[in-house]
Amino acid sequence: MALDEIKIGGLGASRRRVEDNRFIRGKGNYVDDIVLPGMLHMELLRSPVAHARIKSIDVSKAYDIPGVRLVLTGEMMAARNLAWMPTLSYDTQAVLATDKVRFQGQEVAAVIADDPYIAKDACQAIVVEYEQLPVIVNPFQAMESDSVVIRDDKENQPGNKIFDWEIGDKAATDKAFADADVISKMELHYPRSHPSPMETCGSIADFNRATGKLTVYMTSQAPHIVRAAVAMVAELPEHMIRIVSPDLGGGFGNKVPIYPGYVVAILASILTEVPVKWIEDKTGNLISTGFGRDVYLQGEMALRKDGKMLGMRMKTISDHGAFYADAQPSKFKIGLMHSAFAAYDLPAAHLESVGYYTNKAPGGVAYRCSFRVTEAMFFQERMVHAAANDLGMDQAEFRRINLVKDDMFPYRTAFGFLTDSGQYGKCLDIGMKAIGYDTYKAEQAEARSRGKLLGIGISTMTEPLGAGNSREYDILGIKMFDSAELRVHMTGKAILRTGAMNQGQGHQTTWAQIVAHELGIPADDVTVEEGDTDTAPFGMGTYASRSTPVAGAAVAMVARKIRAKARKIAAHLLEVSEEDIEWELGRFYVRSNKERGVTIQDCALAAYSNMPDGMEPGLENNAYYDPPNLTWPFAAYFVKVEVDAETGVWDVLKVVAVDDCGVRINPMIVEAQIMGGLTEAYAMASMQYQTYDDQGNMIGANYMDYLLPTAWETPGFELHEVVTPCPHHPIGAKGVGECATVAGPAAFVNAVVDALGHLGVRNIDMPMMPNRVYEALTTGKDISGMPPVKMGD
Ligand code: CDP
Repeated sequence: MALDEIKIGGLGASRRRVEDNRFIRGKGNYVDDIVLPGMLHMELLRSPVAHARIKSIDVSKAYDIPGVRLVLTGEMMAARNLAWMPTLSYDTQAVLATDKVRFQGQEVAAVIADDPYIAKDACQAIVVEYEQLPVIVNPFQAMESDSVVIRDDKENQPGNKIFDWEIGDKAATDKAFADADVISKMELHYPRSHPSPMETCGSIADFNRATGKLTVYMTSQAPHIVRAAVAMVAELPEHMIRIVSPDLGGGFGNKVPIYPGYVVAILASILTEVPVKWIEDKTGNLISTGFGRDVYLQGEMALRKDGKMLGMRMKTISDHGAFYADAQPSKFKIGLMHSAFAAYDLPAAHLESVGYYTNKAPGGVAYRCSFRVTEAMFFQERMVHAAANDLGMDQAEFRRINLVKDDMFPYRTAFGFLTDSGQYGKCLDIGMKAIGYDTYKAEQAEARSRGKLLGIGISTMTEPLGAGNSREYDILGIKMFDSAELRVHMTGKAILRTGAMNQGQGHQTTWAQIVAHELGIPADDVTVEEGDTDTAPFGMGTYASRSTPVAGAAVAMVARKIRAKARKIAAHLLEVSEEDIEWELGRFYVRSNKERGVTIQDCALAAYSNMPDGMEPGLENNAYYDPPNLTWPFAAYFVKVEVDAETGVWDVLKVVAVDDCGVRINPMIVEAQIMGGLTEAYAMASMQYQTYDDQGNMIGANYMDYLLPTAWETPGFELHEVVTPCPHHPIGAKGVGECATVAGPAAFVNAVVDALGHLGVRNIDMPMMPNRVYEALTTGKDISGMPPVKMGD
């Protein structure tokens, strides 16, 4: 009889994470756990200053330290044409500095020694003479006509501007503004923040001169892309390069780019002919690797007085640091910023974007986000909040009027995306009921009479997850799709490999559930492997919540190919024609006699022992999946806060999250993803502070300054579920991993600004530390967080 899907760990089962078995026993296998015979250790010397010409580097004293095997400088890298490397955004980035240093923490030299401590000491013995240059820490300084040119290494780079880009319909937007009754404006800075995964970046490069093969164990969310890049730069065939990403201690976009440390370790292994391990320290990670955000967002919305949105003008001015190293689809200069307002029935929109070099760390990564979607949705929901206030309308009512209605799908957004499904109004209703929206206004008035400031913040959004369809999305020309390979052994057990890369999301658990759903093989009988380019099929890796929409779909598709072959075997075993066969979970049976059937395991055995004449033996296949569209999950978040009018300290009273990510493969994992995302949203809103002083010194370079919320600070979350299956995904799933990080921050800021609304405060830049809130309380003015800041601010 058909199997019980939940019992076999199929779709909808809150199956316990198989990964946790090793993680909670301390048996994970991270890069730093790997020890190879004869391995040396590498440490990087980083620049203490943000902008300076290098006059000289003297490494002689480093060689005096016993145990030092090699010291590499930019000059030595240059001799091998490796001083610079290409970035993911068609720019170049220094591997080890030759001419200048361009940000504090930039890699200047590397020491390779018998142990990491010797290497660290030897770095201190290297003498570098710097001639300091003026420092730029925001794009407004960068755009001044007399500002110092940071990238004087580049031809045709007269100033600091990187790009000018626009999208949307300018004429239609101008007309909307001409017709408007009310024009509402918003201006803010989404500050620089850092994904700060628990595990920093690191690698072990192992070049074997005898075989000519290079193996690199590394912390990469996209091992196949790394292999492709190394193959192209080193002009080696792909099969001579093996990239292995073992367990990753988080990534959040930070482990997508290729960092100088990886490249230097590879050269060091080639030169020393032994494996070379490089493990970044926490400060190294915070000051030099891919950051998130750092965008100034300005815009205005054209409105009719009955509350209808007519048009939107947006401008972004982004700070990319010293090298334009954003990890994003190549066609889009500022990621998917133009997904802003996708949830709203907005007739016209136009976006203008400019990007600048500054003396800050490079690499705007999609920090738990689909390529700048976080900034887009933050601006959207802050703008919507301001617009409702300017119209004198209720926040929820204004959203209800303008959100895309259920019967409007498929809906073409003003910027050209096609959203395909959702029940936005229903999510809004559920959230309003759960937060107690009806009684809130009365509560707020009553609290104010007692000197307490209550605030409620709403954030509603849909975001594009699952880049992407290969027509539109590529990285450096490589089309974005993904893959899965499934081998069913004769015993009915199976191994599945995908081109995605787990970094804590639970792919080993959930991919097996998709196989269980499609084939009826219990999830416990399916082993999932990712991250080894010698065994996994080619894939674009995991970031931007693309795994479920793309690799997850490939898993379903490959399982269906297996089922199609198994059906032929079943017909052979049951001695009927294939047309007379029916399928129920885990079993084929004869339509006219349900009792006569064979299990998927029977078919697996027959594939190796009793296949029909002419059939190729075995039961394995692969699938490359090119999604027809992105998936569009919807989220409605509600936050209720109380601000202490005396101190500016704010407490979270309640958080309600309503998420619609389509069909949930594993409800428990989905809920954990949402809770994790909300925690990061709260962290960004309240404490994750990374900025610079006027000399380009980074503030937030350690965990005394860059605060991460612990269980103590993190509020509780009330979660609700709506399910609108994705119409084009094989199992109806939409991505979910980043929804709460994307839409969450605006809910917190809207809540605090709502509490202070009676004072005329429109904006407080994140993080809303008590001193900023206090300043807003006492001055009634907006608070900007733009660097430079003074130490201690
Ligand atoms: O790309 P990434 O894995 O970071 O994000 P995702 O595709 O949104 O998936 C995050 C985790 O949630 C994975 O373990 C998914 O299998 C799971 N998930 C789910 O169970 N149901 C969904 N509809 C979406 C994701």
